[in-house]
Amino acid sequence: MDSGKKITFPLLMSVGTAVIGSLQFGYNTGVINAPQKIIENFINNTWFERYQEPITKSSLTAIWSISVSIFSVGGIFGSFSVGLFVNRFGRKNSMLMVNILAFIASALMGFSKMASSWEMLIIGRFVVGLYSGLSTGFVPMYVGEVSPTDLRGALGTLHQLGIVVGILIAQVFGLEMIMGNDELWPLLLGFIFIPAIIQCVLLPLCPESPRYLLINKNEENKAKSVLKKLRGIPDVSYLMQEMKEESRQMMREKKVTILELFRSPLYRQPLIIAVILQLSQQLSGINAVFYYSTLIFEKAGVEQPVYATIGAGVVNTAFTVVSLFVVERAGRRSLHLLGLLGMAGAAILLTIALALLDQLSWMSYVSIVAIFAFVAFFEIGPGPIPWFIVAELFSQGPRPSAIAVAGFSNWTANFIVGMCFQYVQELCGPYVFIIFAVLLLFFFIFTYFKVPETKGRTFDDIAAGFRQTSGGGREKHNPEEHHSLGADSQL
Ligand code: GLC
Repeated sequence: MDSGKKITFPLLMSVGTAVIGSLQFGYNTGVINAPQKIIENFINNTWFERYQEPITKSSLTAIWSISVSIFSVGGIFGSFSVGLFVNRFGRKNSMLMVNILAFIASALMGFSKMASSWEMLIIGRFVVGLYSGLSTGFVPMYVGEVSPTDLRGALGTLHQLGIVVGILIAQVFGLEMIMGNDELWPLLLGFIFIPAIIQCVLLPLCPESPRYLLINKNEENKAKSVLKKLRGIPDVSYLMQEMKEESRQMMREKKVTILELFRSPLYRQPLIIAVILQLSQQLSGINAVFYYSTLIFEKAGVEQPVYATIGAGVVNTAFTVVSLFVVERAGRRSLHLLGLLGMAGAAILLTIALALLDQLSWMSYVSIVAIFAFVAFFEIGPGPIPWFIVAELFSQGPRPSAIAVAGFSNWTANFIVGMCFQYVQELCGPYVFIIFAVLLLFFFIFTYFKVPETKGRTFDDIAAGFRQTSGGGREKHNPEEHHSLGADSQL
């Protein structure tokens, strides 16, 4: 039987267009790092024009920190609102609609210098945060729903690949000779309107999620024809069968609100797993590197910290590609475990390097190696996997609410690390990464005991696994199944 797991053009086009949203998220994560001094100058000048006196150091730090971290506040609100859109407007139209936020943010940030207003910059960062929060829900959901079971992990990793490429582009564009200078920094920040236009042109050419069409809208014929195109096979009846099975189960559960998600014992276990996996991604300390790497490298005595930061971006991208190719073979669980353990090791190495820096100056090279290893292990598992595994852990009914809760946890933890890292670093000095090492080991133990393998299993089967452990068992039914099940499930 043709399993319909080949990569067809419509599939690639749909996923490729969706991940432009991920690219935007990554770009805005990385863009604010390099031009800090230049934008601070602008804030200083604007202040002087308005009040005829120079800005105080503490006001400048406050305005700067707010401009950086308000992005994650937008992300918190955005990710929590995912459920308001996806069932009402569909997955595809939701992605299309929110581009309006990207255009607004682009205009606010791009014209802030002209209007002599750092307030516009701050509001723009908030709006693009909203956009990014919504995207981190929409993209993995859509990609998970259009992908064949056996490619869900690989295609899901493309969300993370979009993010890391976005970060890298921002790091390179942010170089002084490109756009990180006095004249061009507004363009650097406003640049996001270009990917937004591209996405607006391409999205109408992409299909809606067949799961949404069948399960939410009951439009069987449309779902069928979309599925035929996506899979590139004439007979999709067994795939339709699997979705119908999921739909039948959903009739019992209906649409699940966030409140019900917390109340029902049926969802407790997958929900805890989803949230802890998000925390493992953010509290690993990855954004301490991506927000402050230049600072960390400077403290470690590296001569060209900006280039070391770009080096981290390159390693980041390269290892996401590695993960893309191995995730369907090695599985989510093992890669996540390997990534967490490797990161803990790298965090300890970095601590040793920073602690010995005064005695041994070559430790600055060790610190570069340690940070590169930290980033590489992150992208092996903890980077990509938490994003797409939530869509896998829940069936169609609770999926939007679960993704909202997971996204909310992710962005909140992102905000906390972004806000607190500099202060904690001042307190702990070279030992700051020990905190992340301890957290990483905790997440390793949790994953080892609690996270099941989802590789090669249908949505319906994964949900059935959780139903069994919460007492509401039923027979397994998975027409798309190719792998042996159960043995690797820890639940
Ligand atoms: C993940 C995280 C994001 C981080 C990025 C680094 O996507 O969610 O916060 O900046 O990885 O590659």
